[in-house]
Amino acid sequence: MQLEHAFMQLLCLASHFVMNYRHAFHAGNFADVVKHIVLCRILTYLHQKPAAFRVIDTHAGAGLYDLTGEEAERGGEWRTGIARLMQARFGDAAGPLVAPYLDIVRAFNPPRELCAYPGSPLIARALLRPQDHLVACEIEPKARESLIANLRRDPQGRVVDLDGWMALQAFVPPKERRGLVLIDPPFEQRDEFERMANAFGAAFVKWPRGVYVMWYPVKERRAADHFAAKVTAAAHDQQAGWARIEFSVAPQTGQSGLVSAGLMVVNPPWVLASEMKAILPELEKPLGLGGAARYRLEASTG
Ligand SMILES: C[S@@+](CC[C@H](N)C(=O)[O-])C[C@H]1O[C@@H](n2cnc3c(N)ncnc32)[C@H](O)[C@@H]1O
Repeated sequence: MQLEHAFMQLLCLASHFVMNYRHAFHAGNFADVVKHIVLCRILTYLHQKPAAFRVIDTHAGAGLYDLTGEEAERGGEWRTGIARLMQARFGDAAGPLVAPYLDIVRAFNPPRELCAYPGSPLIARALLRPQDHLVACEIEPKARESLIANLRRDPQGRVVDLDGWMALQAFVPPKERRGLVLIDPPFEQRDEFERMANAFGAAFVKWPRGVYVMWYPVKERRAADHFAAKVTAAAHDQQAGWARIEFSVAPQTGQSGLVSAGLMVVNPPWVLASEMKAILPELEKPLGLGGAARYRLEASTG
């Protein structure tokens, strides 16, 4: 047992040193936009009951990204993501559903300008009521420092220097027995799909009523489908509902970067699928590269 613990610590230490991922390159891209709209829809739904909830963000990032900074400018991904969405016109059904997300992004920017983009912990923080809490894990020291500064010693938002996979097991179920877990790893390691499925499975056994949102890239269709099948099987065993949401901004070609990403949501609010059915078609035009965007939405009520 002690040997196992030492091995886990070694693995954890190693991951500190080989990590290259910097979310600033991707902040505000199409994948962030879809992920954060879903996050906002779920948290808005949780407001319907006065009982407190907790958000556990296992891979939180820096919290706020300077879109005029070198990294964001170099990637430029936000220009075809949040920048386009801010200019988009939405219909009567989708408009009010996307509004809480857009309002949060606007709150971090001067009027009619876009120079900063909030990440998941700051978006979640903006949707906490006085009784709710956020715990955000980030192991990259600079990103964690920024997140701490961005949350400004907020008594409702705790930043922890803990491996997100370990934190997931340690923090569920939260004492409120109500809330959401966001699992959004960088997908730098080859085994990240398997790791996420296993970590989710173990957490889900401990807390079968929690809402779990898991982000994944779609680079190899088989890997994404295999992961989704594992998650839906676990949900099915517990008679829990799930939703699978994917968004592609262009057809996948050999050389293209990330053009397709997905979210597996377990125990989604019952309204999420119908809300996303209203929202997703309206994201196709602004987020599509050359008009070729497509979405996929599958859901089961358990
Ligand atoms: C995709 S980014 C997070 C983006 C963020 N969730 C958002 O939506 O704004 C992944 C983050 O996880 C961090 N990270 C990588 N491995 C981690 C681990 N084992 N535990 C916690 N954080 C980790 C990276 O430093 C990076 O900031």
